[in-house]
Amino acid sequence: MATPHNSAEKGDIAKTVLMPGDPLRAKFIAETFLTDVKCFNEVRGMLGFTGKYEGKEVSVMGHGMGIPSIGIYSYELFNFYDVDNIIRVGSAGGLQDDVNVMDIVFAMGAHTDSNYGFQFGLPGTFAPTASFNILEKAVALAKEKGVKYHVGDVLSSDAFYKKCNESELYRNVGALAVEMETPALYMNAAEAHKNALTILTISDHLFKSGELSAEERQTSFTDMMEIALKTAIQ
Ligand code: ADE
Repeated sequence: MATPHNSAEKGDIAKTVLMPGDPLRAKFIAETFLTDVKCFNEVRGMLGFTGKYEGKEVSVMGHGMGIPSIGIYSYELFNFYDVDNIIRVGSAGGLQDDVNVMDIVFAMGAHTDSNYGFQFGLPGTFAPTASFNILEKAVALAKEKGVKYHVGDVLSSDAFYKKCNESELYRNVGALAVEMETPALYMNAAEAHKNALTILTISDHLFKSGELSAEERQTSFTDMMEIALKTAIQ
């Protein structure tokens, strides 16, 4: 039952899938954190793997960059592969003064300039929100771990290189960070009556200087992955 974008057979993919943007990051996660790993997809280089974390089956698959890309992969996972939970594990640019590089952000809601929601034909605006059941578990794990984290809204933009100041306008209404994928994931989950959460590490800041060193990048990534994996198996 392959799709044009995924060569997996039904049953090759676990009920919970962690999704980084970069498929090579998916490979790294599988090789670093999982045991008994099997690759289930190589179509378009969008690598997907299933393995075990603390003895429980988990999958990890890249979603690419931007709303259309994650829209396709998450739709197929929810609707054709019986996946119940998708946790995006990504990076984002900080917008608020108290959101620093290396912090973790849980996207409770996602503002967007994308028109992805138009296809649902709703008489208004689709409000993409995280699934509280997994958000709650992930936040409890972050608290337990003692990492610096924030829970709130993010801005999900169609453009990385912008010609207007929309990031500042969304910063003014409290958006914590800017990224490029979450609304499609949350809308697809809502329509399929499934669960979704985006967890982000802050890799850069749009209003303050300072970037992550390679070592800091690794530490904050590992913290996020441990939270995501422990959430996945609970
Ligand atoms: N992901 C990481 N940093 C970002 C930024 N500044 N804008 C959009 N997506 C991002």
